[in-house]
Amino acid sequence: MKIQSIRGVKDIMPGETEKWQWVERKANIIFSRYGFNEIRPPIFEKTKLFTRGIGEATDIVEKEMYTFEDRSGEKVTLRPEGTASVVRAFIEHKMYASKALQKLYYIGPMFRYERPQAGRFRQFYQIGVEAMGSHNPAIDAEVMIMLMDFFHTLGLKGLKLQINSLGCCECRPAYREILKKAIHSQLSCLCKNCNQRYQRNPMRILDCKIKSCQDIAVNLPKTTDNLCHECDVHFKEVQSLLDTTKVLYDIDFMLVRGLDYYTHTAFEVTSSQLGAQNAICGGGRYNTLVEEFEGPATPCFGFALGLERLISIVPFSNPNDYEKKTDIYIIYLGANLKVKAFDLAHLLRAGSLSVEIDYDGGSIKSQMRKADKSASRYALIFGENEIKSGNYQLKDMNSGKQIIIPANSCVEEIFKLLNP
Ligand code: HAM
Repeated sequence: MKIQSIRGVKDIMPGETEKWQWVERKANIIFSRYGFNEIRPPIFEKTKLFTRGIGEATDIVEKEMYTFEDRSGEKVTLRPEGTASVVRAFIEHKMYASKALQKLYYIGPMFRYERPQAGRFRQFYQIGVEAMGSHNPAIDAEVMIMLMDFFHTLGLKGLKLQINSLGCCECRPAYREILKKAIHSQLSCLCKNCNQRYQRNPMRILDCKIKSCQDIAVNLPKTTDNLCHECDVHFKEVQSLLDTTKVLYDIDFMLVRGLDYYTHTAFEVTSSQLGAQNAICGGGRYNTLVEEFEGPATPCFGFALGLERLISIVPFSNPNDYEKKTDIYIIYLGANLKVKAFDLAHLLRAGSLSVEIDYDGGSIKSQMRKADKSASRYALIFGENEIKSGNYQLKDMNSGKQIIIPANSCVEEIFKLLNP
């Protein structure tokens, strides 16, 4: 029986995983520099966490969740995003009690039943960041600066940071009404989806991808012209802090984001190197979500970036950064020397070297071929002659130069040479 993987999911194969590990290591380093700690929430949760958290009327909740009943009849969902889980964990573990500001990040798979296409998968990976416990605009700015710092470290070019303010529960209801009034006479020219959005969430009309809707949307009243004083001051300070660090951005009043929890600053990063699915990152402030789940009032700011999209545009210009190399390939000639080779491999690995041996032995030619294939830096070679003479051969696989090392101190000699 031949079974293939499910549509919209993919294997990340050796050769690629090294690149993923390198990018993830960089994220660990950069995010730690800004004081963030890793959290690992589960990949499935009670369904109502997502329906309530992300919003009943969002595409994710309406059409894209992998939801099923477990054996006890409980409705559970494979997480379509990480923010709701982090909020749940934050409240469950009373994280607010130990620190006024919790800075968290996570790396892992998310699941959305979307139409698969280039850059869009049904299982995809995100790196997400959530700063929980401060309303200070410095947090909005610093988290975006950290993200751009991370992208810069990876050597990315052609990125665009777009920001907007979505207002708060004080000014947003009034803006919604202003928007509805402006849209009302043009409803017949909007797509079917936008007609539904008009009733449930008119701000999403700004975000419609259909050209005729966009033509109408560009002339609609802007969020940024309808903010209350507090939101206006907040947004201006975010901009001035970004200006201070010379992080470039555009204000895009059409940016509204597809999840319901956002308030104040929202942002996206797009890349000119990607096709239709050009968003590598999205996020913003969500000041009311923790309270909605019966936690204490906790203003938050965060983002998530799509790892498949990110990795597809990282230049990976220096293979030495991420390619795994074998230090020593042990070549032994004669089945009776297998135990010796096995023991040597163990001792060398204990000294932090990466070592391979040919478990089946074989001719020197075939073992050399395998050493070549494994891209080893050195081959350690011994047969009966070397055992008798007490000297092993060590071959530099790049230069082809061969040196002799004493058998009884061969481990120490190799450590001296390779300095692990
Ligand atoms: P999101 O915009 O839904 O935000 O997703 C963030 C990123 O995940 C997108 O910009 C994209 O790169 C990637 N992504 C989303 N769906 C797919 C897919 N089907 N295939 C491949 N990549 C995808 C969130 O998830 C929020 N939780 C972000 C956030 C965190 N806001 C505050 N904190």
